[in-house]
Amino acid sequence: MTEPATFSVDGKTGNYPVLAGSVGPEVVDIRKLYAQTGRFTYDPGFTSTAACESKITYIDGDAGILLYRGYPIDQLAEQSSFLEVAHLLLNGNLPNPTEHADFTRNITRHTMIHEQLAQFYRGFRRDAHPMAIMCGIVGAMAAFYHDSTDIHDPQQRIIASHRLIAKMPTLAAMAYKYSIGQPFLYPDNSLSFAGNFLRMTFGVPAEPYIIDPVVEDAMEKLLILQADHEQNASTSTVRLAGSSGANPFACISAGIACLWGPAHGGANEAALNMLREIGRPERIPEFIARAKNKDDPFRLMGFGHRVYKNYDPRAKVMAGVAKTILDKLGIDDPIFDVARELEHIALNDPYFIDKKLYPNVDFYSGVVMSAIGFPTSMFTVLFAISRTVGWIAQWTEMMEDPEQKIGRPRQLYTGPTHRDYVPLNKRA
Ligand code: SDX
Repeated sequence: MTEPATFSVDGKTGNYPVLAGSVGPEVVDIRKLYAQTGRFTYDPGFTSTAACESKITYIDGDAGILLYRGYPIDQLAEQSSFLEVAHLLLNGNLPNPTEHADFTRNITRHTMIHEQLAQFYRGFRRDAHPMAIMCGIVGAMAAFYHDSTDIHDPQQRIIASHRLIAKMPTLAAMAYKYSIGQPFLYPDNSLSFAGNFLRMTFGVPAEPYIIDPVVEDAMEKLLILQADHEQNASTSTVRLAGSSGANPFACISAGIACLWGPAHGGANEAALNMLREIGRPERIPEFIARAKNKDDPFRLMGFGHRVYKNYDPRAKVMAGVAKTILDKLGIDDPIFDVARELEHIALNDPYFIDKKLYPNVDFYSGVVMSAIGFPTSMFTVLFAISRTVGWIAQWTEMMEDPEQKIGRPRQLYTGPTHRDYVPLNKRA
């Protein structure tokens, strides 16, 4: 047990407990700092701040380790299924056969949406970005599922959780169908979670949809790899929204909005657009030079990470999925060659080595989703389908935390001090 930390400023001294987790960095509990010293900590971007205690996901960025409830991500991606991983993240353990059957049935039985929700799509332009639709339609769920918005009722929290996890693929597929002018398909509860989503997205009422097991397996792995990731920006958004007592549908809608950003979940769309812009390996040096140029805002999308200062373990698995699906589907897309060559060049370039910039989960996920047939505008929507499980698990953990209170950070104020109002006719 580490001795308490001592902090002295302007003659005021306080001792602050050092708390240890089961693994990873200890934390200095500074909750009494302001009361004892009259000072705040200052940490824009929260680079050195633990915002909560959690038992769900552990990341060791230096070692490139990612554990869901203690299980390594590569083992889960290779051996588990998305619904089994969802049960693990939500409930803390891998389900036994009865729990697995019950959880699968609960999710499967919530895949349909209220018929009137489908009318919302007709209000959007056909060329609306599907993430814009998802922000709106998921938030609108709060207007339909009133019997699961009481956040203080554990049973309602569970029903809302199952509804969100189950309906995200249906809503996402509808956003895609609407954009291409094809009819919506209802869920088929005889299919797997991934298979059902593929059919609703790529199937048509005019003929049966044959699910390619290679594509279904790649989809499962994609969903598993992106399900949770500790206190990333969108998860922190969901926690902060939930801390005010907002209903789960509003919280997940807020998480979707945050995930959309190109620095976060929107990077998969940006990374694939970047690979297509590079077009061929000979143009890579030009883009590497731009990424190094301080005067150029361009960054290599799909590279770098706030936590991983080693290879993102998800990217390793995703690279394998990309190679498998391209080989098995016989897709000869030069974009994968560009990706591999870019990765090789970047990983041997001192700039990237010094700044510990490795490919992250978004670097190869776009290649996989493009190979399956999704347009780039749907990439972050798929990320949101997967991450809804993590958001729900983290939101539930927060709601069950007896110490939970509304999140309300402070600031370092550098604006004008007191000044009196000057009437318009007296201003210069
Ligand atoms: C996700 O948090 C999570 O867990 C997120 C996520 C999840 O599962 O939830 O893992 C998913 O969001 C993955 C990240 C996807 N984003 C991208 O691929 C976008 C490109 N990456 C960068 O924008 C950046 O790396 C971030 C945003 C991911 C991380 O930025 P940080 O930690 O704030 O680091 P930084 O911006 O301060 O960069 C440190 C240095 C800077 O140079 P200096 O000012 O020190 O000289 O590295 C440089 C940056 O210029 N740098 C890059 C770069 N990323 C950082 N230079 C070129 N290309 C890049 N991609």
